[in-house]
Amino acid sequence: MIGKWLHRLLRRCSHSIAPTATAARPAEVSSQDTRAPSDGPLALLQPFQIRPMNSGDLGELLGVFRQAIQVSAAAQYNQQQRDAWSRAQSHESLISALSEGEAVVAEWDNVLVGFAHRINDYINMVFVHPNAGREGIATLLYQRLEDGARMEGMTELTAHVSLTAHGFFHFMGFTSEGQEEAERNGVSLARYPMRKPLI
Ligand SMILES: CC(C)(COP(=O)(O)OP(=O)(O)OC[C@H]1O[C@@H](n2cnc3c(N)ncnc32)[C@H](O)[C@@H]1OP(=O)(O)O)[C@@H](O)C(=O)NCCC(=O)NCCS
Repeated sequence: MIGKWLHRLLRRCSHSIAPTATAARPAEVSSQDTRAPSDGPLALLQPFQIRPMNSGDLGELLGVFRQAIQVSAAAQYNQQQRDAWSRAQSHESLISALSEGEAVVAEWDNVLVGFAHRINDYINMVFVHPNAGREGIATLLYQRLEDGARMEGMTELTAHVSLTAHGFFHFMGFTSEGQEEAERNGVSLARYPMRKPLI
């Protein structure tokens, strides 16, 4: 685990130093972003910032949600399924959903690249922008939520997990209890109920 983290840190440091450091950032966000990327040794040691969500994040969250579904889930779900899943949340419903429980976001050079949400013992959402995938961002987001659950005395976490996220949740220690079908806007999507005891 530590080896993987160090590998990612070194990979991220080399991205940050390179002149094309912003190339892998979410295109639709970075093209509008006029804020300077953070630099210096501390930024290299903390390539991502995980922090509680605030109301100023909501505009970017829906973009991350939709891009994660449309791009990262393309191998597991067809276009009709991805459209139905993506449309299942509007700006308003996302605000409402995130208003209870614990919501955390990941920032990379001041750009929001992921978010995760927990209600009590239920991991409700984990979404990472496809341009920032496989860098350990979902791992850090999830760990923050698991820490919060442990501090609240939870003894187990549960989730309904997309086919796309099954490998990630398995990596985080969840086990599945068989596949089931969920409906979004009249379209059926396969998913896994999963759980993880917090010992
Ligand atoms: C699932 C998702 C959140 C993972 O985010 P991520 O930041 O890329 O995940 P991490 O980099 O932290 O992955 C950690 C480990 O999980 C596992 N993992 C992550 N994505 C995986 C995938 N697509 N297939 C298999 N294993 C995967 C790997 O073991 C990975 O370690 P590695 O990169 O060293 O091999 C992201 O792909 C996503 O947003 N998907 C689309 C939306 C979605 O399905 N969300 C979940 C709804 S329930």
